[in-house]
Amino acid sequence: MQLFTKLNDGSQIPTMGYGVFCIADEECEKHVLNAIKTGYRHVDCAQIYRNERGLGNALAKTDVPREELYITSKVWVSNFGKDKTIKSVDLSLSKLQTPYVNLMLLHRPFGDYISAWKDLEKCVEEGKVNSIGLSNFNKKQTQRILDICKIKPVINQIECHPYGAQNKLKEYLFNNDIAVEAWYPLGHGNKKLMSEKILLALAEKYSKTPAQIILRWHIQNNNIVLPKTVRVERMVENFNALAFELTKEDVALINGLNKNKMLFNVPNWVQKLNNKLFPVNLD
Ligand SMILES: NC(=O)c1ccc[n+]([C@@H]2O[C@H](COP(=O)([O-])OP(=O)(O)OC[C@H]3O[C@@H](n4cnc5c(N)ncnc54)[C@H](OP(=O)(O)O)[C@@H]3O)[C@@H](O)[C@H]2O)c1
Repeated sequence: MQLFTKLNDGSQIPTMGYGVFCIADEECEKHVLNAIKTGYRHVDCAQIYRNERGLGNALAKTDVPREELYITSKVWVSNFGKDKTIKSVDLSLSKLQTPYVNLMLLHRPFGDYISAWKDLEKCVEEGKVNSIGLSNFNKKQTQRILDICKIKPVINQIECHPYGAQNKLKEYLFNNDIAVEAWYPLGHGNKKLMSEKILLALAEKYSKTPAQIILRWHIQNNNIVLPKTVRVERMVENFNALAFELTKEDVALINGLNKNKMLFNVPNWVQKLNNKLFPVNLD
């Protein structure tokens, strides 16, 4: 079973994606091929994960045609800047062994993200990228892009899970027709979250696991999800969150776990620095 979310440029993204953060380049091909065998058709990668080559090897080997797969990558902040961003997209495409990615995001709102956005718009015009979007942009930063863009961002990929539901930012994004992708959808496997009483009770009620309950909660709250796992049985488990439904009342119970608590904190002093902080060589 597949579900799709329609984006503001008319394209469709599979609502369930497979995230490859924290997977080594040499392991990535194997895990992506397993995910594709499980049924995933959407993979979420990034330049800074340093595993675009492994994902590219999987794309080269799989029997599933490229047009049935939805591939996302993200430009890292050290690659922001006029022409620099385009060059980095070219390098990503060569590592990924594909002539285009479905979606390219600006990974974090540091440095010259305005020039980076203009470069991404050129990549769309040149057919290297189908859709473009943001990641970790707050309301003000998203608005800065909306104020200067020729092409509107289709998505903002943000940390989102039952402890940090991001309701205010989501309301602003949905009002601007920007879809939400939830990273850390399982709270990065946070043990406290996964053993919340309400989730255990709902898992029993629906004969599902707490992870499936959380993923289903995301889907019914209009979030695109990107759970990561290296275990095939969990790939299947997570994917099967597409195939059942929570009642509105049960979604509301999980909404009650929200404490606006982010599990991945970027310290304020880091927020204030520009991309000089990230002298990363991603060749
Ligand atoms: N844009 C950004 O800044 C950003 C930041 C972080 C992440 N992301 C994206 O979001 C994706 C997901 O985030 P994430 O990988 O950090 O966190 P996550 O998907 O919330 O959680 C992954 C953790 O949960 C465990 N897990 C997975 N399925 C499970 C299940 N069914 N039951 C119990 N535990 C389970 C995994 O362990 P095992 O692997 O051992 O199963 C792993 O430790 C990333 O891969 C990446 O694509 C984006």
